[in-house]
Order: sequence, then structure tokens, then C-alpha cells
Amino acid sequence: MPTSGTTSLGHLVSRRAAGTTTSLDGTWRAIPDPYEIGTFNILGEENRAGWFRDVKPRHPADRVEYDFDTSLELRVPGDWNTQIPELHYYEGSLWYRRTLTIDDAEAGRTFVHFGAVNHSCRVWLDGEELGRHEGGFGPFAFEVTGRVGPGDHSLVLVVDAIRTPDRVPATRTDWFNFGGLHRSVDLVAVPDEFIAHAWITLAADGSLIGEVNVDGPQVDDGATASIEIAELAFSLEVPANERFHVAPADVPELDRWHPGRPRLYEVAFTAGEDRVVEQVGFRTVETRGTDILVNGEVVFLKGISLHAEGPSGGRRASGADDAATLLDWAEDLGANFLRLAHYQHDEAMVLEADRRGLLVWVELPVYWGIDWTNEGTLANTLQQTDELVLRDRCRSSVVLWSVANETFPGDDRTAFIGRLIERVRDLDPTRLVTAALFTLPGKGLETHIEDPLGELVDVIGVNQYYGWYYGDRDEIPSKRWSSVWGKPIIFSELGAGAKYGNHGDAGEMWTEEFQAAVYEAQIEMIAANDDCAGLSPWILKDFRTPMRVLPGIQDGFNRKGLVSEEGERKQAFGVLQRWYASLG
Ligand code: GCU
Repeated sequence: MPTSGTTSLGHLVSRRAAGTTTSLDGTWRAIPDPYEIGTFNILGEENRAGWFRDVKPRHPADRVEYDFDTSLELRVPGDWNTQIPELHYYEGSLWYRRTLTIDDAEAGRTFVHFGAVNHSCRVWLDGEELGRHEGGFGPFAFEVTGRVGPGDHSLVLVVDAIRTPDRVPATRTDWFNFGGLHRSVDLVAVPDEFIAHAWITLAADGSLIGEVNVDGPQVDDGATASIEIAELAFSLEVPANERFHVAPADVPELDRWHPGRPRLYEVAFTAGEDRVVEQVGFRTVETRGTDILVNGEVVFLKGISLHAEGPSGGRRASGADDAATLLDWAEDLGANFLRLAHYQHDEAMVLEADRRGLLVWVELPVYWGIDWTNEGTLANTLQQTDELVLRDRCRSSVVLWSVANETFPGDDRTAFIGRLIERVRDLDPTRLVTAALFTLPGKGLETHIEDPLGELVDVIGVNQYYGWYYGDRDEIPSKRWSSVWGKPIIFSELGAGAKYGNHGDAGEMWTEEFQAAVYEAQIEMIAANDDCAGLSPWILKDFRTPMRVLPGIQDGFNRKGLVSEEGERKQAFGVLQRWYASLG
């Protein structure tokens, strides 16, 4: 029976010994199938001779009405929308096929691993269904042990990027719904008994916690795993598949990972024949009143928000090069904090943030209106939560799990998100939980945050657009914000739109001067708000979205970037850069 994929293999790939992973990236064949005739017959029944079979005519009179070998070519990883003009706004079903030739006999177990596929997919190998997966941004894998012996094999997927009210995200987002295999695909060979997941981190009380999950037919209750940090002459024997805890007194003396001072240690996890090596930074993160502390030190979060869009071309970002360029820009801005909005970004982003000593807010695509009372929707969002936390809970840069963005208060909403928060805290009790709250302009200068979600989170994210969607710009500096809970407030969004190169006076909409003036006013306001622990203005770079259509100005892009979609810096970039520099 096809499964829905196995999430905890998220880090299956890049932390294993060389030679265990075969990249399946490159050019794949593709067939758009808007009428889903590759799956269903004209009666709407599953077509047993569907395209998953990847067959060729056996003789001249054999009628086969599709042929992957002569069909479109798509690059993987990559979205299909920016590769083929006809597919720009395409969200329907699309088939992918890749053939792979295996030379060596299989040893141990084998998985096919997907970094992420937007939005939903079914996967077949040699005509046999491996499983299905729903969710556009998290990693998943299917076991193919015993099916990839020497010879040619056909890996086929049908992917759709259809937006529906019961999906997460649902039908409307202010970002472009890029479809396809937008992150890497790998074939991974592991021993019969292998480390499915391993993590270690420092809790706020200075203790070490973590777990090593060992998967295998013979794994019995007494199975153990070892953790070694050679540089610290530290090693630990722990029971497999159980959370371990090392008391602060037993934690070796170590250099803490700190914003701007990234210190990573090589941590080797071993179980049976299997070994996974992680580069881990050790730091604590907590709140005290309205402050956020890293390693016991108050840190003001000088941040910027980002979408997972490449540095140019308005395409889905993926891989280390895109991550490096985007983080170069953020560092040039003087940022020590990134909000990766509104969904799980490529793992390359958080790995690079670890290496650069940048703090990170990661987020679930629980955005605007969601089908809060739909059990299927909740189950899928809990699965996406697992994918988010399990992949990134070894990352020292990740300090905030965000469970939602601009959801409208209501009991069903709060109950739904409450379940997500429970899951996050269960999977990782060491980091802070937050959500970006939707705030409407309060009467007068005081805004007192009362959204009940504020009760459930550790840090309150406030999205406010004074000077753009509402409010008089001159009033901004005197605005004051607080919450009934006295928790840290992060201005998770603020900003204004401007078309790069469009100049005029500061009162003229869409000019760089207008945007810069809004930043000047917001900065003055934030500097005067004691409850504010940081900000992540909206947004580093102009990004693609079908919601923004103003000809000559937006042309399919949200223009609130501090740089254009090609990286050209607007005046407001300098305004924020100078302020961040002044904060030291
Ligand atoms: C919202 C939302 C963003 C959106 C932004 C905007 O706050 O969270 O996704 O892009 O506003 O309107 O530009």
C-alpha cells in the first residue's frame, strides 16, 4: 500500500559519508496534463494503463498516446513556471519522468529523497506506486529497497500545484505558486539498520538534549547509539529512539555559537554500521520579559524578511549558491536575523545561516484563511510541522518556530494553531514559538495586542503597515505597542512599495523617496518602543505574486523589496543599513 512518505528522513542526504547518495538532479522529461488523462479514464476511474507505466509502443500497430522521451524537458531542481513560458500560470497536473541506470547490486536499504515538491504528488518506480505526499515545502522520502537492482529504471511522478480551500496554504497567497520539483532529488543507500534522524542542542538551562532515531528490522529496545564531539573529547552512549538529556554539569566546556560569532562543532552520530556527521553550534535562546536572550545576552534582532526566490529571474530559489547570494545581501544590510517567510525554505538557507552566525525565524505556510475545522487539513499541517522541525532542529541559527501568518482571530483558528504549537514544543522544547499576528490600526497612538494567539506563543510577531496600507506617516514615530502578556514583540512585517529607479518627492506613491520616508518613520518608532525585541521588515527583494498587477509599477511583483527582483538597491536599503550599523 502506497504510504504518504516518511518525514523523519529529512536529513538523510547531506550528512552521510560520500558515495551513499546519487543525485537525480538534472533534466527530467515532463508532460503537462491539465485534464488528468494520464491518471483517469473518461469515466473518471483510475486508468490502469496510466502514464505511470511509462510504456513505449511494442509494435507498429501498438497505440500509445504519450511518450516521455520526446516530451518537454524541465530542469530539477526548479519550478516549471519560469522555465517554459506556456506554463507561467500553470497549476494543474504535470508528469515528470527520469530514467536511472543502476550498475551495482543493491546493499542495505535504498530511499528516493525529495527536498520538496509543490504541492501534491504521487510517485512510481517502474510502474509501482511508492507513495503520495501533500505539502509544497518539506522534505520526504520513499523506500525503494529491493527495487533498484542493476539495470534501467523509470521514476515517474505526477505533481499538481492546485490551490484548494482545504490545503495549506489555501487558495490565496501574496506569493507566486511555483509548481514542481523545486528542490533536489537523491537516491540514498543506507545500511539495513540506519540513523533515520539525529539531533542535539543546548536547552535554555544549559543542558544538552537530543535523540538518535534508528530504523531497522532488528532494532530492539536495548539498541544504543553513540554521539562524539572529538574536538571536545566528549562522547556519549545513548539509548536509541529515546530523548537523551545531559545535565548542565556534565556538558563539556565549549565555545558558544553566537550571532556574529558562529562556532560549529563536528558531531558524529553512530549506530551499528551507520554514521551521520553534523556541524552543530551550541547556544541557548530564551525570553526574559520583553527581551530575547541568546546565551544569556539580550540580542536586538536586526532583521529582514525573505521569500524563497532566487537572486534574479523571479524563480524559486534552491541550493547553496542562491542561499549565499541572498545572505550576502542580508549581511550587507547589517542584518543579524532573517525571517524565512511564509513556508520552509531550502535547507541550504539554514545551513548557511549557521555558518554565518545569523539568527533565523522559520515558518509554516498557515497563512490568512485556512479550513480550521477540517481534520484532514489539520493532519496535513501537523505533517508539515514535523517536516519543518525535524529537518531544522539541529540548526543553531534557527531560534524561532513560527506557526502562522496573519490568521484572523477565532476559536477554531486558535484551537487549530494550538495543536501545532503543542506538536512543535513536543518535538523541540528548546526554541521559541511565535506567530505573525494580523494587526489593524488601533485608535490613537497606543496599540495593545490582544489576539488570543499571543497567549500561546513566546514571542509576538506584529505585521503592521503604517504609512502604507493605513495610518498617517507623520504619526508613526509616536505609535506605541505592547501586549497584555508583556512578551517580546518583533515587527515581523513593516514597509512600503517602490519601483526601483522611480524617483519623486516623498509624498509620491511608488517612489524610492516615499519608501525611504516610511522606513525613517518606522525606525524612529521602533527605537522608542521598549517592548520591541527586533524587526524583519517586508522584504529584502521584490518578489513575484499574481496579486500585484499595476502596469509599469508592479507587473506581477510585490514592490516592497529593499532591492529589485534583480538585486538593484533602493534608497530604503541605505536607510535601514545605516540604522543597523548605528546599533552596532
Ligand atoms: C502581508 C503578508 C505578506 C504580504 C504583505 C504585503 O502582511 O503577510 O505575505 O506580501 O502583507 O501586503 O505586501
